[in-house]
Amino acid sequence: MSNDAYSLARRAAEDLRSRTGIDSFDVALVMGSGWVPAAAALGAPAAEIPLAELTGFAPPAVAGHGGTVRALTTESGKNVLIFLGRTHLYEGRGVDPVVHGVRTAAAAGVRTLVLTNAAGGLRPETQKVGDAVLISDHINMTGANPITGTTFIDLTEVYSKRLRALAKEIDPSLQEGVYVAFRGPTYETPAEIRMLRTLGGDMVGMSTVLEAVAAREAGLDVLGISLVTNPGAGLAGEPLNHEEVLEVGRATAERMGVLLAQLVTKL
Ligand code: 6GU
Repeated sequence: MSNDAYSLARRAAEDLRSRTGIDSFDVALVMGSGWVPAAAALGAPAAEIPLAELTGFAPPAVAGHGGTVRALTTESGKNVLIFLGRTHLYEGRGVDPVVHGVRTAAAAGVRTLVLTNAAGGLRPETQKVGDAVLISDHINMTGANPITGTTFIDLTEVYSKRLRALAKEIDPSLQEGVYVAFRGPTYETPAEIRMLRTLGGDMVGMSTVLEAVAAREAGLDVLGISLVTNPGAGLAGEPLNHEEVLEVGRATAERMGVLLAQLVTKL
């Protein structure tokens, strides 16, 4: 049996089929920090499986605190996979575990991927805490790339224009912005935040870009949405903490859930 990253993803997709009884999925969503409570709006789970029970997913760093993947069929008849929790590069396991969910979704038939995250806002002039911002493009400052060792791929339109337009039909007030990813797990220094503003970044976080690249390699259409949970370091004078990120998620879950549910219906 082959153990390369793509074979592991095909085996995980087989695990998903046999565990859920669903043969092929249409859409996958990855729920980042703060987004997990919004998943309820997408519908009642048909199945929910601990990721550690599927081929190739890293065991949880803390027992009982691993992610799950939820499978459901919407009223409109779409088969949806929802990843509740993701592996980050800052966990130190390398890049393959970070994108294994995306590769598994692709192997399970998914053609449309929604990546969500919590992010620091780099534009307090125009962004409020609790705003959802559509990702128009990214700057990958992680130093990592999931397709190392394969080939060249075009990244002119990582985040689908068509899907962004669809999201704006639902909520015309949605802004767009460039998402910058650092490896973390430290938040940025105020000097780094000033640098990112100069470079044209609008949001900063520690996820999403590697998954988006792996998704483009697999030919998926990608929508990315950041929930602005705090201004970047030095922009507001307050120290940053993860609890604040989760709290903004809880406060905005209902609004974000409605957005995602309407989006999945419209796809
Ligand atoms: Cl300010 N930076 C990073 N890297 N990730 C974040 C954040 C900031 N706020 C929420 N997530």
